[in-house]
Amino acid sequence: MERVRIFDTTLRDGEQSPGFSMNPEEKLQMARQLARLQVDVIEAGFPIASPGDFEAVRLVAREVRGPIIAALARAHKTDVETAARALEGAERPRIHTFIATSPIHMEHKLRKSPAEVLEMAAKAVELARRYVDDVEFSAEDATRSDPDFLVQIFTAAAEAGATTLNVPDTVGYATPEEYAALIRYLRERIPGVERLTISVHTHDDLGMATANALAAIEAGARQVEGTINGIGERAGNCALEEVVMALHTRQDRLPFQTGIETTQIYPTSRLLVALTGVDVQPNKAIVGANAFAHEAGIHQDGVLKERSTYEIMTPQSIGLPQNRLVLGKHSGRHAVRVRLEELGFHLDAEELERVYQRFLEVADRKKSITDADLAALAGAEGRPLEEQVELVHFQVSTGTGMDPVASVRIRRGEEILRGAARGDGPIDALYRAIDQVLGVEVELVHYQLQATGEGRDALGQVTVRLRPRVNSGAPGGEEEGAVEGASATPSLPEVMGHGSSTDILEASARAYVQAINRLLAGDPRSRTPVEEVV
Ligand code: KIV
Ligand code: ZN
Repeated sequence: MERVRIFDTTLRDGEQSPGFSMNPEEKLQMARQLARLQVDVIEAGFPIASPGDFEAVRLVAREVRGPIIAALARAHKTDVETAARALEGAERPRIHTFIATSPIHMEHKLRKSPAEVLEMAAKAVELARRYVDDVEFSAEDATRSDPDFLVQIFTAAAEAGATTLNVPDTVGYATPEEYAALIRYLRERIPGVERLTISVHTHDDLGMATANALAAIEAGARQVEGTINGIGERAGNCALEEVVMALHTRQDRLPFQTGIETTQIYPTSRLLVALTGVDVQPNKAIVGANAFAHEAGIHQDGVLKERSTYEIMTPQSIGLPQNRLVLGKHSGRHAVRVRLEELGFHLDAEELERVYQRFLEVADRKKSITDADLAALAGAEGRPLEEQVELVHFQVSTGTGMDPVASVRIRRGEEILRGAARGDGPIDALYRAIDQVLGVEVELVHYQLQATGEGRDALGQVTVRLRPRVNSGAPGGEEEGAVEGASATPSLPEVMGHGSSTDILEASARAYVQAINRLLAGDPRSRTPVEEVV
């Protein structure tokens, strides 16, 4: 059976979409899980984009063994050099360089002629090859490019030393037959193609990312690029779990093999949800909460008589925990650790202790702790964080016909700071009180509250994104490391915070204080507007 390589870009194309940013430690945690999933390539970031991206690629390159570690670079000298520096220390480094090839992008975005683009591509690949043996070249917006120009530029890239040629459907425009035909066209015309890997990179704007990737595999592509849970720009990238399980389940039609350890799919999906605070839709293929749920009576009856009546793959095959062991306040560290590992959280002793202590606090208020509760606690508490400030106490008064008032006590070093504020609502009052006590001026960019389960005692899981107000003097208030060619408007770094509790006000306060701690620690997740160039 022929092997298809799985190239994961969750930490690059996925992470760059709004609401999914991760700091370098979170990216490292995710990369370790991707290595357990046994993806072939981890694209760890776009090092020129920001100091945070550089640091994340550097960390992953040094720490993660097994998969190839790739870094993205435009076809510019500084991009390639920066990617090479970030990859120092990687066991199997890859530089992934790209340039747009469609008339629309060359004319309006790059303002370059096809001949100039061709030359830039060849030069970038050549330069990348001076640093690493493994170079991938992508023709951005390939599906809206002239196929003969693609043949020319891919041939030039291969002659310059690229061994993987990627054909992105950047704007999710292609249909499966059309995409497959393009792959066949290129394979018939690029000299020496049998020594090269043709890769596909699909986006889901028209809901065809997975179908396009599968059609391309049948047409000869042997690398598929995508993300976990299909996160990514706009409607997202191709969901890797869908491609992998389609190949796994339909061997009769798609006789291809991947190196993926499918039982790590569910833990990887849940880890990403916990790190980003963004859940997948319940009906999402493979990893959605309902993907293996049988509600209708006729379906339940069928499944009870014979599973295969309505189930085309088993929940075990994607690593959905089968053990319904209920965790509660009498559960020990061992049981909590084992369940966390089933959910994708491999914590060190200190992180485990933090999560366990929060688990005990919550278990005191709640009869049983579900997987979702546990993942929320691990996502919010598990990561080591230099805590400069800690919420000691809060109180909020609210009710009909009154202005909500919040008071807080916050520890900063040895000091206990106290303050109170009014607000439009209880959370506004709470956040104003925290701002006032700490003397910070931040903007709440995003607030999300989700229940982890169905009952009245479900945990409230809050995710916030904050950024310093312009001229506030708060750390990170100045633009750093802008990408040449990107927007002139400075984009301030954003930080994320998560908090979980049976009390939604407490969860909100915890999330806010965690985000402020990150801001104070100068969390390098600053994101410059690279979206405009990629
Ligand atoms: O969608 C795209 O074209 C990309 C490239 C940078 C590979 O993400
Ligand atoms: Zn993309």
